[in-house]
Amino acid sequence: MRTVIDPFKIKSKPKYHPGRVFQKLGSMLNEHTSKKGFESFALPERSLPKNGERDSKISDQGSQDTAVTDTQRAVLLEALLITEPLDFPVCEIGAYRGHTSRFLASRTRRSYLAVDPYIGYGAWKEDMEIMLDGTKGLNNFKHFRMTSGEASKVITGLGFCFVDAVHDYANTKFDGFTYGQKLVSGGVIAFHDTDNPQFPGTRRAVYEVANSEIGFDLLFHVEDLVVLRKR
Ligand SMILES: C[S@@+](CC[C@H](N)C(=O)[O-])C[C@H]1O[C@@H](n2cnc3c(N)ncnc32)[C@H](O)[C@@H]1O
Repeated sequence: MRTVIDPFKIKSKPKYHPGRVFQKLGSMLNEHTSKKGFESFALPERSLPKNGERDSKISDQGSQDTAVTDTQRAVLLEALLITEPLDFPVCEIGAYRGHTSRFLASRTRRSYLAVDPYIGYGAWKEDMEIMLDGTKGLNNFKHFRMTSGEASKVITGLGFCFVDAVHDYANTKFDGFTYGQKLVSGGVIAFHDTDNPQFPGTRRAVYEVANSEIGFDLLFHVEDLVVLRKR
């Protein structure tokens, strides 16, 4: 069992606490290394089979509520449905306004666990209210208002996990390894923003998770979305 440090654990300490300063320096170094090796951390492309495309559009919500594209949504849906027979919960790390949460949760009969603290690292309480409003009436939907690290103490076996929280090396690595190890065999983990030069750390962390001892096969890789399946 691999344990990765939760970058949010130290955030409760004062800004100039030695641990926070050390973390900041480490993070800068990691992002630099990730940027330099950006090309070497690319995973091969793997798009949906032609007949695998399903309707992925939601007509009633604006696209300003999510960065997930129609193509990525179609891939997420395909991956979700592949894991449907597993009967283990679905989890989304970083829900923002709940656009993807609503789309996926309404297409699975399994529990849908959305983890997002709404504490200012990408979203606030107002975004949470939009998310809660949009997912109202979905009986399988449950919001964990906590960080991925806090939620990892209460969430156990998973069939599917979509990691889309803080897009840097340390956080993606923490989420990828922590939640990747929670997947049952045949379970799937998806990562967003994997090919954006603005987030080189995310690409590197996903590359490391994909090639780790956990044992994954590459299921799909379209622009900015990698989906791995646990052996
Ligand atoms: C890119 S948005 C998520 C977008 C969403 N998945 C979608 O498809 O539209 C990132 C979200 O991650 C959340 N976040 C930040 N830190 C987090 C953490 N440690 N654990 C879980 N979520 C976190 C933010 O509050 C924000 O809502």
